[in-house]
Amino acid sequence: MNFIDTHSHIYLEEFDVDLPEVIERARLAGVTQILLPNVDSTTIERLLRVCNEYKGYCYPMIGVHPTSVDESYEKELAIVERELATSNSYIAVGEVGLDLYWDKTYLKEQIVVFDTQIQWALRYNLPLVIHSRDAFEHIYEVMKPYKDLSLKGIFHSFTGSVEDADRLLEFDGFMLGVNGVVTFKNSSLPKVLKHIPVERIVLETDAPYLTPVPYRGKRNESAHLKYTLLKIGEIYGVSPELIAKQTAMNTLKVFGMPQKQV
Ligand code: NI
Repeated sequence: MNFIDTHSHIYLEEFDVDLPEVIERARLAGVTQILLPNVDSTTIERLLRVCNEYKGYCYPMIGVHPTSVDESYEKELAIVERELATSNSYIAVGEVGLDLYWDKTYLKEQIVVFDTQIQWALRYNLPLVIHSRDAFEHIYEVMKPYKDLSLKGIFHSFTGSVEDADRLLEFDGFMLGVNGVVTFKNSSLPKVLKHIPVERIVLETDAPYLTPVPYRGKRNESAHLKYTLLKIGEIYGVSPELIAKQTAMNTLKVFGMPQKQV
């Protein structure tokens, strides 16, 4: 079974000790590609180092994460703008978005940073990988003016209601990213997923976070994606092979990469 991890931070220091083993386990589990969203200017070097070392397996995105937005946001944006202009290797603008869970102080700045990066995605014809936490209405408001444009991307770590999903999927070029949360005991996501077409979801780990059951609480890694995949198969009442194949196709539709076999 072959599948794609569309959202993983395996370049972070949590993986300093054993990254080669982490990659090897991912390959053995059937992960054909791992897509790596950036966090901010402090993570670019690590991100690119890992993607160079595992070229054709790990793919970098560039962007400023909303929790990294503060009064010096212009400096962060300038670095992303420079990266976009100087390199062709970025497969997406990400991760970007709004996060009001940790801190609401910089909402205005977060909106400016998000909106600017949407415009860059359009300029460079790159998909967007969007992080939203406690910010659904604001995300929707910022994105509304872009609805009829050719934007593509992922609403990463989707955990909302059926109504939320319906509104997000009005954006035709977008998929919902589903991760280990779907395996959690009290998650409402299994019920909600039944209403979402399998043609509109992709798989992700968000490693090192959001580890699926039975490893919940431990560090997450791409190989654990198979537990999320098995659970999604159960929810839709189809084989995990079918989910693997469909979500890989959905991913390639958004990112336009060549399909790979392990
Ligand atoms: Ni992330």
